[in-house]
Amino acid sequence: MAMRNIREEGDSILLKRSRPVTDYNARLHTLLDDMRETLLHADGVGLAAPQVGVLRRVVIVMDTNREDLTPEEQIIELVNPCIVASDGEQEGQEGCLSLPGVYGIVKRPEHVVVRANDRFGSEFQVEGTGLTARCFCHEIDHLDGHLFTERAERILSQEELEEMNRDQ
Ligand code: NI
Repeated sequence: MAMRNIREEGDSILLKRSRPVTDYNARLHTLLDDMRETLLHADGVGLAAPQVGVLRRVVIVMDTNREDLTPEEQIIELVNPCIVASDGEQEGQEGCLSLPGVYGIVKRPEHVVVRANDRFGSEFQVEGTGLTARCFCHEIDHLDGHLFTERAERILSQEELEEMNRDQ
């Protein structure tokens, strides 16, 4: 496993559409392993392949609702994911490892059902609520070249960010 550099805003790869995965080979497994290590090191809750410079439909999301699991165990690998159902609405704060220091208020569904393949190509379905649902939406958006700032109702001001940091 190796860490990969996280691409930041201004890098045009973040605005491109990723291609579906067709080969469930060692190259895909290395990508997923590297994404896991990169996410855990960056202390994030989700990561999409284009963020590490690979235009393939691959994301990982941490199911932070599962407090009984270690961070490593919370990671869900999704290959060619798509949202097949969503309901409810939540409004909350969102950030992105590709936009360090930027936070905004974004509306997302409260609950989503995602269909994806695992690293071996088997199809599965997974559900998420709250932060996990938000994370599924955010990461899948990356695969179509969308950043949360496009969806944000507003971006938090410097003052609000300072207040947020004080509370932590
Ligand atoms: Ni992001």
